[in-house]
Amino acid sequence: MLHYLKKNIVFFGGKGGVGKTTTSSAFALRAAEHGKKTLLVSTDPAHNLCDIFGKQIGREPTPLADKLWALEIDPHHESHRYISTVKENLRKVVSAQMLSEIERQIDIARISPGADESALFDRMVEIIEWGQRDFDLIVFDTAPTGHTLRLLSLPELMGAWVDGMLSRRKKVMTMRETWLEDADVNEDPIYEILTARKLKFARAREVLLNSRQTAFSFVLTPERLPIAETRRALPVLAKYRIPVDTLVVNRVIPDEADGRFIQRRREQEQQYLAEIEQVFRDHRIVKIPMLEQDVTGPDALAVVASHLF
Ligand SMILES: Nc1ncnc2c1ncn2[C@@H]1O[C@H](COP(=O)(O)OP(=O)(O)OP(=O)(O)O)[C@@H](O)[C@H]1O
Ligand SMILES: [Mg+2]
Repeated sequence: MLHYLKKNIVFFGGKGGVGKTTTSSAFALRAAEHGKKTLLVSTDPAHNLCDIFGKQIGREPTPLADKLWALEIDPHHESHRYISTVKENLRKVVSAQMLSEIERQIDIARISPGADESALFDRMVEIIEWGQRDFDLIVFDTAPTGHTLRLLSLPELMGAWVDGMLSRRKKVMTMRETWLEDADVNEDPIYEILTARKLKFARAREVLLNSRQTAFSFVLTPERLPIAETRRALPVLAKYRIPVDTLVVNRVIPDEADGRFIQRRREQEQQYLAEIEQVFRDHRIVKIPMLEQDVTGPDALAVVASHLF
C-alpha cells in the first residue's frame, strides 16, 4: 500500500481484534521512516498503542520515534470538555434563569447514548484541522466497525440537523424582527455558533471524502465473521462516498508453519482466502502472515510493515 503514503489522512477500520492497531502502528512507523511527519491517533476507547510502543501516550501528541507522534483520544474526557464548551457558549446567550434549566437538560444529554461518540467526533474533526497544518500524515486507528461508520456518517447527519435548526431559527428571528424594533436577525449568537459548527463539519467532510487526501483501509482476518462484517461495511462506506481501496488480510497462516492441525486450519483458510479474493475483487488486497508472537516493539512492527508495502 505504498500509494497510501501520498495521502494526508489514512484510516484503519475493521472488526474488533483483527489487527487495526497493529496495522496502523506499522504503517505509521514506516511512513515516519519514509520522512513523513506522522501523527498516529487512536480513537479506540480501549487504548492499546501504549502496549505496542511500550510508552505512555497522552491526549496531546507524544513523540514515539523520529518524525512519529501519537495521541489517544479519551472519549469520556472529550465528552466532559465538549459539554463545558457548550455550556460556556450558552452562558453568553441565555438568561441565568433559563441557563439552569438548559444545563440540567444538557447533563441528561451527556449520559445519553451517542454523547461520547459525538464528542469523539468533534475531537477528530479538530485533530484533522490542526493536524493537517502540523503533520504530513495523520493515521487513525479506529474503534470497531459499527462505531467508525457512525462516526464517519455523523457530519452528514449533523449538517442536515444544523440546517433544520438554522432555518427554524431564522424564521423565529425574522418574526421577532417584525414585532420587536430592536431585534436584529443578523446578530444572533446561537445562529453564529450553529453556523460555525456546520462549517467545521463541512470542512472535515470535504477532507474525508477527498480520495486524493484521504484513504480508508479495512483490516480483516481470513475467517467467517470478519469477512461478513467487511461485506456489510463496504456498501455503507460507499454510500457515504468514503473511498476504501485496500483491504489488509491479517494473520494468514504462514507457509512455513507445519503440523497436521495447522494443515487442517490452512485448508479452511484457503477457502476463506478464495472467498475474499472473489468477493472483494474490486479492492487491492495485502496479506500479513500470522507471526509467532504478539506484535510489540519496532522490530515486529517492521516485519508487519514489510508485508504492507
Ligand atoms: N500478524 C499478526 N501476528 C501475530 N499476532 C498478531 C498479528 N496481528 C495482530 N496480532 C495480535 O493480535 C492482537 C490484536 O491485534 P490488534 O490490537 O492490532 O487488533 P485491533 O483490531 O486493534 O483490536 P481492537 O478491536 O481490540 O482494537 C494483539 O495482541 C496483536 O499483537
Ligand atoms: Mg485496537
